[in-house]
Amino acid sequence: MDTLVLAPMQGLTEVLFRRVFHRCFPGAFDYAVSPFLSLTHGNLNDAWKKITDVLPEVNADSMAVVPQLLGKEVEEFVALANRLGEVGYSEVNWNIGCPMRRVAAKHRGSGILPYPDEVRQVLDGVMPRLKVSLSIKMRLGHQHDDEILQLIPILNDYPLRSVTIHPRTGKQQYGGAVNPDRFGECMALLSHPVIYNGDIRTVDDHSRVVGRFPGVQAVMIGRGALYDPTLPSRIKQLPLSSDAIACFIHELLDAIQAQPISDEAKLRKTKEYWCLLWHATTLSEMQARSVLHMTDLDDLHTAIRQIVK
Ligand SMILES: Cc1cc2nc3c(=O)[nH]c(=O)nc-3n(C[C@H](O)[C@H](O)[C@H](O)COP(=O)(O)O)c2cc1C
Repeated sequence: MDTLVLAPMQGLTEVLFRRVFHRCFPGAFDYAVSPFLSLTHGNLNDAWKKITDVLPEVNADSMAVVPQLLGKEVEEFVALANRLGEVGYSEVNWNIGCPMRRVAAKHRGSGILPYPDEVRQVLDGVMPRLKVSLSIKMRLGHQHDDEILQLIPILNDYPLRSVTIHPRTGKQQYGGAVNPDRFGECMALLSHPVIYNGDIRTVDDHSRVVGRFPGVQAVMIGRGALYDPTLPSRIKQLPLSSDAIACFIHELLDAIQAQPISDEAKLRKTKEYWCLLWHATTLSEMQARSVLHMTDLDDLHTAIRQIVK
């Protein structure tokens, strides 16, 4: 099973990154799930203004994308999902895995997982009114990795397109061990197609997951694609040029440079990407870190271009 999905990562996998990735590694990812659009009570027009990241015209030369929504406000959920349907999307994804404390404290993201009644309430409210399919991205639980077990019978009551499971709890955030045993148990109980997500950093990691869970519909990769952007192409055995990583980094810098944002924001963004992407190069950590003190955007870009050839 070689279907690969680019994971949503707020601040990293927006259309800027997806577009460059698609140009440099065509076909490596089958599609992406967008970083979440947060539902807020009230004015949908305000929310709409913030979602240029998933507008089809902005994504025309990028990989296919499924917009992701975060929240449990039923009216706003239905309105936003159906507006996305009107502009051409056939699927939206519901994020019930975000572990950020201020999100989870409001029973949003992974914070809703210990409350099956609230999950049912949202699904009951939105499903009959959605004109698009719904998929879900979730964790095993918020505090405990068995919370998912009481949710599965509820999820099985609705026609979901897929369920992506990141087999950690919200409490674990992004560290600690993943729990593949619990993932397997859930996969057997779920009546929907299941997507695996978590800690795929090598071709072997991918082979291990699809070997152990041959029924998975797809594998979703997040940080692994930033630590090494060639990983999805290597998993799919797609041709790669010897300078693929350098080309990708150079194109990403061009794309950052062309953004309609301040130089300060471009500098910050470049450093965020660089802190992950340098791992894909042959540079030592000391060499990679040597550019991070720079405060001038042009100096930083020139330095990175010189050390990544
Ligand atoms: C910086 C960052 C931002 C993230 N933003 C989102 C998000 O917007 N929506 C979401 O569902 N998951 C988000 N995630 C979680 C990832 O999609 C993914 O589930 C997680 O990183 C585990 O997969 P990986 O080990 O392949 O990175 C984020 C993760 C990181 C590190």
